[in-house]
Amino acid sequence: MQAPTSRRTALTLAAAALAGLAAPAMAQDNVFKIGLVLPMTGQQATTGRQIEAAARLYMAQNGDTVAGKKVQLIVKDDTSLPDQTRRLAQELIVNDKVNVLAGMGITPSALAVAPLATQSKTPLVVMAAATSSITEASPFVVRTSFTLPQASVALADWAPKNGIKTVVSLVSDYGPGIDAEKFFNARMVNNGGKVIEALRVPMRNPDFAPFLQKVRDLKPDALFVFVPSGAGAAVMKQFSERGMDKAGIKLIGTGDVTDDDQLNDMGDGVLGVVTSHHYSAAHPSELNKKFVDAFQKANKNLRPNFMAVGGYDGMRVIYEALRSTKGAGGGEALVAAMKGQIFESPRGKIYIDAQTRDVVQDIYLRKVEKKDGQLFNVEFDVIKDVKDPGKAK
Ligand code: PHB
Repeated sequence: MQAPTSRRTALTLAAAALAGLAAPAMAQDNVFKIGLVLPMTGQQATTGRQIEAAARLYMAQNGDTVAGKKVQLIVKDDTSLPDQTRRLAQELIVNDKVNVLAGMGITPSALAVAPLATQSKTPLVVMAAATSSITEASPFVVRTSFTLPQASVALADWAPKNGIKTVVSLVSDYGPGIDAEKFFNARMVNNGGKVIEALRVPMRNPDFAPFLQKVRDLKPDALFVFVPSGAGAAVMKQFSERGMDKAGIKLIGTGDVTDDDQLNDMGDGVLGVVTSHHYSAAHPSELNKKFVDAFQKANKNLRPNFMAVGGYDGMRVIYEALRSTKGAGGGEALVAAMKGQIFESPRGKIYIDAQTRDVVQDIYLRKVEKKDGQLFNVEFDVIKDVKDPGKAK
């Protein structure tokens, strides 16, 4: 009597143990996790809002099952503090066992996570941060945003041909600002222009007033500006309030300053500002019109900016890598499948350079104009297939 009971119990226990182990393992096997670490609050919150919305839109449009796997997005708020980014990425790798890390609102966040990506062989899809060197920080980094050298050089070619001979540069004092300063200023000088002064403003809680006063005194033909997404409206406001434009000083910059997330609220003082960048919500392609419409419908009329397009395309790169590795790829296979991807984005044709894992794309010159009562960056010239000039050492 004893034996059968205990055998039954043992069998039942064994079956339960197997089921208990197998169930989560199988569920785990069928899920493909993307850990999206973004600044959802704090100074860079618009970047997080834009990228999360774009990633969700991509999934709504393309389904959440790829190569037999259920794609799961895990969004974490790093408040744009790199120590937080690193801690959250570590948890996502160890506890959640994510297949891919993505997001990275600012350069210090991307650089903080790169060593973890290398150690754990986890692809790190950088959707926002834009300092040239980030792709060199780990062989697991793939970038879908842009680089500041890529955006700046086109403007330094345009400016001297358009009456701008002398400039002062004003940049945020960290990676992307230093890249913008270096590449814009060198190219200006190379083109026969003159850089009167290179000013750097703190990245956190910047006060632009004393810097703009200095620029007024120096009276260059133009002020070249780089500030990260979200800070452009403050610069534009103070530039107008100080009557810099009336003093004959033009404002030019990378498109971060006339960010589509804020542009429409900047007021008419911003009309005529020329910038260079890889994405405008006014980009006149069918695909972009559909993208902007769908994004606005899904997000209470919020206009997508260049961060959104980095997030949207980053999801495409991940989905295609998952598809082409038939759901069986580990980190190395996924990165290999991300390299060389070429496709039409809402910004135009882009590809992921197989050598550098960085994005190659068209850079547009744009001018702020009013269309149907709204302010837009209207493209008027294009430089095709621009590779990151920061890589050519
Ligand atoms: C960056 O930190 O790399 C960064 C952030 C915002 C931008 C551009 C670059 O608009």
